[in-house]
Formats: sequence, structure tokens, C-alpha cells
Amino acid sequence: MQKVAIVGAGRVGETTAQILAEQETCREVVLIDVREDVPQGVALDIFQTAPFFEFDTRVMGSNDPAAMQGAEVVVVTAGIPRSPGMSRSDVLDTNVKVIDGIVADIIKYAPGAIVIMVTNPVDVLTYRVWQLTGWPRERVIGQAGVLDASRMAAFIAMETGFSSRDITTIVLGGHGDSMVPVARFCTINGIPVSHFIGEERLDEIVQRTRGGGAEILALRKNSSAYDAPGASVAAMVDAISHNRNRLLPCVAILEGEYGQQDVAMGVPCLLNERGLGRVIDLGLNDGEMQMFVESAAGVRADIQRMQPAP
Ligand code: LAC
Repeated sequence: MQKVAIVGAGRVGETTAQILAEQETCREVVLIDVREDVPQGVALDIFQTAPFFEFDTRVMGSNDPAAMQGAEVVVVTAGIPRSPGMSRSDVLDTNVKVIDGIVADIIKYAPGAIVIMVTNPVDVLTYRVWQLTGWPRERVIGQAGVLDASRMAAFIAMETGFSSRDITTIVLGGHGDSMVPVARFCTINGIPVSHFIGEERLDEIVQRTRGGGAEILALRKNSSAYDAPGASVAAMVDAISHNRNRLLPCVAILEGEYGQQDVAMGVPCLLNERGLGRVIDLGLNDGEMQMFVESAAGVRADIQRMQPAP
């Protein structure tokens, strides 16, 4: 892959850029931000790590949205993060205006790109981008489940002492308190996690996963999480740029899967050079389905709360 544009040179954008550069996922990373000088400074700082990590990825910063020209993937992280005590929906009204402007730039400068939405509330805003662009759902996806699953894997590693490398987790639904970590599909090297962790403790891990973002925000106080979010976005870009056909939980527009349509939700997706290859429809049991439906209702309520698309 030649070029990835990251709109928003905040902490998540910066971490994503650092990892993409370090891993040489593409030849050029451009950070775009409305704040004067900031993306240039971030880009320089990252590029100056090149001798340590031995990469020659070009890293540029710009205030001009035209800099996204030629990008095959556009990652959108711009917007305000939540403050302690706020839910992800609390930032919707502000962020939808930011995103509407960015979508106009993307349509103008990167009309063939795959968009990865990161700004919260990510499911609602992924829907917004899909609606405004009118693009096929293959090219408009969101990052949530990769992060939520990595949090759950971390908690399982901390609980059991097994290497995170061997832990596979999956989290579906909206990226909010009603997300659906599906413990039934979580394994440690193929062995169901229930073999190692009792039901009650597993329920606590599920709850901690749901509050994983808020936990970090409460601890850090002046910042949301950004290390694991950036790594999650980078993993999605890597799957696309290397045409890996990875199965990752992503925010996707549903077209009948899980009995839902006209909504964006976290579901297992095949990710490759086309973006979303397909959505994998798991046979959820009644309890899981009920949680999924409740989660979808929350996302739908926020979608309806948004101003009509301009
Ligand atoms: C989190 C925020 C960024 O989950 O959504 O950390």
C-alpha cells in the first residue's frame, strides 16, 4: 500500500501513525489536522524515531485536507474525546459536525478510499459516513471490536497467567456499555476459556471489558485510551494493506445479518484489500441475541437523534 491518511493528529491518530510507520504498513502516512502546525510537529516527531525502528516510511503532516489525495485508506480520528463521566454518546452532537466536514473532504480528495472510522460514538458515526458518502458498505467500516476484544484478552491473560498470544476473544455489538463480549467464543489456544475461569469471574471480566474505555479514562483523568486504540486501528489497516483476509470484529453496516439492517454494529468481518469482504453471521443464542438487539437499539436511538444528513 502506498498511502494512508489519518485525519486527526490527536493521541489515537499519532499512535496509529507511529505503528504504521514502524511496521512499514504503507510507504507514506499523512496526518491531517485543523490545528496549525500540530500535524507537522507530530509527523516530524514520529519520523525522528525512524533510526531506532529502522523504517523508511514517509511521515508527513498537513493542515490541508487535499493532502489526503491518493490515500487508499483514510482513518478518521478527529473530534472531541469524552471527559471522565461522559458516555460516548455525549460527544455525538459535537463530533457529527466535525465528521460531516471531513466526509466532504474525503469525497473530494479520496473518492476511492476505504474509510476507517474511529471517532466516537464510532458506530453512529460510521453509519453517518456511509450515509453521507453513499459508498458501498465494503469501504466504510469502524474500529471498536478489535479494541474491545484486546481488552478482554488482556483481562483473561491477567486472570489466568497465560500468554496474550494464545488468547482469542470476540466482542460484538455497539461500542458502549451494551457491547456484547461473547465469552462462548473466547479460547486459550482453542480451549474454551470456561475451562480455566469460572462463570462468575468470567461475568466480571465481561463487565470490566464493557467499561474498559471508561476505566482507563478514569485512571488517566485527562485522556482517553490511545495506545490500544491506535494498535487496533493499525491492525485493521495492516489486514487491508496486506490483503490478509483476517477475521476481525469491526463496525459494519448490517444488511440483514443478525436480523438487523440500516444500522452500524460491531460484528465479525472478513477484512482484505477491498475493505469489508463479508460479515460473518454467528448463530447467537437467545441470551446473546437479546443483548445484541438491545445494543442495536441504543445505536439506532443515537442515529435518529442526529441532525438529518446535509
Ligand atoms: C475507548 C474509547 C476511545 O474505548 O472509545 O477507549
